[in-house]
Amino acid sequence: MSARAMIDAAAAKLEAAGIETPRLDAELLLAHCVGASRGEIVAGLVEVEGVEQSYEEAIARRAEREPLAYITGRQGFRRIELKVDPRALIPRPETELLVELALARKPKIVIDVATGSGAIALALADEIDDHLIVGADTSIDALDLARENREALGAEQVWFLNSDLLLDIDYIADVIVANLPYIPAGELDDLQPEVARFEPREALDGGEDGLKLVRKLARQALGKLKPGGMLALEIGEGQAAETEEILRAAGFGDIERHKDLAGIERVVLGFAPR
Ligand SMILES: C[S@@+](CC[C@H](N)C(=O)[O-])C[C@H]1O[C@@H](n2cnc3c(N)ncnc32)[C@H](O)[C@@H]1O
Repeated sequence: MSARAMIDAAAAKLEAAGIETPRLDAELLLAHCVGASRGEIVAGLVEVEGVEQSYEEAIARRAEREPLAYITGRQGFRRIELKVDPRALIPRPETELLVELALARKPKIVIDVATGSGAIALALADEIDDHLIVGADTSIDALDLARENREALGAEQVWFLNSDLLLDIDYIADVIVANLPYIPAGELDDLQPEVARFEPREALDGGEDGLKLVRKLARQALGKLKPGGMLALEIGEGQAAETEEILRAAGFGDIERHKDLAGIERVVLGFAPR
């Protein structure tokens, strides 16, 4: 069978399974099975013989709504590529905004609370010279994955620690970043199947209104920031005003709200008094 015929048949299966981008996913999975780029596959430059069975298995997993990144095991995030698997949330493109806003402060010491796969911590390490970066999480599985990513990327100045938010962190940082679980508990079952069935629940569940951990972190963060230091929080759609109020009540001075590329208020920054 030609690559084109394999992709046509697979895309039809994925479309029937309700996948939003069936052809793209079919191409990316064939590229993964062959060990080539999607461009090479689409241009018909690659021999696809011998991968029929592994491709069929990959398509069957995707048709069951397993996320593409868990099947390929890789996800790009800013300039780095991470290993991803069900031990941690798949890093999202919108989270790159958090990294960008943190980088603008030219920080030397950063704490990445709720680090998951280590995406934010390792992307920052890749783009800041002379850094010390600490990633914290309560999930032992996520910390194992983050450490594997650290090894693969040779990020020697990044440390991953088991800590409930900042409780067990002794550093005083220039910047604290956090992409906390922020989905309201009542909405978890309505998420798309890729998220609801495959990604870790402890990476998603933000309590009744989604902001339970934001409240807790806001109370802890000023004690771990240098004067003028910045707390950067990724939030869900519609949570910016409440998050701003939480930060003000916790004693943060200036507050900024930033939109992502889709125009959604995605990051709230709070600055410690000088
Ligand atoms: C939304 S994921 C973010 C992962 C990663 N930072 C990213 O942006 O891809 C949230 C993470 O918070 C962790 N988590 C949940 N409760 C926590 C707590 N109390 N303290 C630290 N981490 C926590 C979860 O294990 C999960 O890895």
